[in-house]
Amino acid sequence: MKQLDITTPITIARYEELSTIEQKLVDEARNATLRAYAPYSKFSVGAAILLSNGEIITGANQENVAYPSGTCAERTACFYAHAQYPDALFQTIAIAARGTDGNELPQPISPCGSCRQSLLEYEMLAKGNVKVMLIGADEIYILPSVKSLLPLAFSEF
Ligand code: THU
Repeated sequence: MKQLDITTPITIARYEELSTIEQKLVDEARNATLRAYAPYSKFSVGAAILLSNGEIITGANQENVAYPSGTCAERTACFYAHAQYPDALFQTIAIAARGTDGNELPQPISPCGSCRQSLLEYEMLAKGNVKVMLIGADEIYILPSVKSLLPLAFSEF
């Protein structure tokens, strides 16, 4: 028998340690949480995607009285980004959240499984890594790729 170990490298940074564009993405993701429509969970998530054309597309979770009809911030952002700019490639996604008390959580949140699979589609299209920034109040986790969040992902290719 053989064993396969899968590891996920995570760089943990403070806001002040980020580049200007990374700080901008963090700001945009944090601001996007304020546009969440989350009357049921009261949990607000914001996402900001940097595209190869320099545009930054944001999204926030959008809930629905019929619960499964809502969607997460990451999918709001990635579907809108690709619908709006189908030729642009994804470069980085930043994700922030506020808890039910309206405050940012100290630790970053991580995308749900459906969002990981959805984001992976755009990483495949980009033919390169899409950097992932998971934003907490104190620390920001930086992962090199969406794939590192979804090892052994389904793919037809
Ligand atoms: N949510 C996101 O927007 N992104 C995630 O990755 C996980 C969860 C949203 C869905 C729902 O509106 C709320 O957070 C509580 O689950």
